[in-house]
Amino acid sequence: MDKESDQPLKIIILGAGKGGTALIDLLARERDCVEVVGVADTNPRAPGLCLARKLNIPTASSAAELIGKNGADLIVDVTGDATIAAQIAEGKSPETETMSGTTARLLWMLVREEQELRAQLTQADKLATLGTFAAQIAHDLKNPLYCIREFAQFIEEEHDSDRIKEYSQEILKADQYLTSIVDGLTAYTRSTCSEPESIRLPELLDQAVKMSRFATTSNAVEVVCDYQPVPPIRADASEMLQIFVNIITNAVQAMNGQGRLMLGVKVEEEKVVICIRDTGPGISAALLPKIFTPFFTTKERGVGTGLGLSIVQTLVKKYGGEIEVESEEGKGAAFTIRFPLPG
Ligand SMILES: Nc1ncnc2c1ncn2[C@@H]1O[C@H](COP(=O)(O)OP(=O)(O)OP(=O)(O)O)[C@@H](O)[C@H]1O
Ligand SMILES: [Mg+2]
Repeated sequence: MDKESDQPLKIIILGAGKGGTALIDLLARERDCVEVVGVADTNPRAPGLCLARKLNIPTASSAAELIGKNGADLIVDVTGDATIAAQIAEGKSPETETMSGTTARLLWMLVREEQELRAQLTQADKLATLGTFAAQIAHDLKNPLYCIREFAQFIEEEHDSDRIKEYSQEILKADQYLTSIVDGLTAYTRSTCSEPESIRLPELLDQAVKMSRFATTSNAVEVVCDYQPVPPIRADASEMLQIFVNIITNAVQAMNGQGRLMLGVKVEEEKVVICIRDTGPGISAALLPKIFTPFFTTKERGVGTGLGLSIVQTLVKKYGGEIEVESEEGKGAAFTIRFPLPG
């Protein structure tokens, strides 16, 4: 930036081949400090001229047309044409500086480097997004898959036909959940959404408990429910299930399969309130602010990816809700979700 006038530097670019194009591309992004006031090239099809027209930068078919232009601070000559230097020296106004020859080549090399770096960064960004996305999908599929595996094992050891029927129904439910996740993915890529349906929260919470129990091998968790009458809420059932499965799985994992899981639903202050409480080790004050951050986990590799609560938070917000957590080390944890009362 020109310190005295605070005006953007006015630059003329001579030569609109590869070097000139890269320069225009870079300088056009620095609108606050730089203004490209003209681009010249004898080749009317030079790529830099096309770019300049797109950006509404004045163009010219010869260097001479621009050299004498008033008010330019700098002329950058990337033509590689030795006769141009003489033309500039003759025609430019005294206050205009020039950059040509080796200095212009150096600039062109730096610009090319910057372009390559930017392309690499974009690629890395794409890969990182893809990695997060893949991790989320893997995370979502884990619970129903555990569920199917466990019930299939139960069936193998079971002789009672009623029990076998009950277990296979659980497998079908987990399969339905898996299908809805996969459908959700295809809907995502087509940018359409599934129709919301009427959801009875107590039923969904009970289903979430069944799916989450397999999060640990020992299963001495006592489940205490306090379901008060609440109106059904309208939402995508698999997304709501995802919210509860994630919170309950965390609770079951924290209690290591032993303790009490308390589930409550009620209406309070014009909100539908869902509370999920456990008697596990709780969360320390230092960790509490971090638990909703994607990939934050205190679990071993292969047990936790740290995505559960970040997915929960996104989904709760999607339905206009809020989530709150209260916990003290050694005193369990309580997650409270509040959704607006359906109108
Ligand atoms: N009920 C809970 N009791 C104690 N700590 C919890 C509880 N719920 C969450 N946490 C803490 O919050 C962290 C983040 O939870 P989150 O569900 O996002 O990831 P994760 O369970 O570690 O991994 P993932 O859900 O991807 O399998 C957990 O690692 C754990 O430290
Ligand atoms: Mg989790």
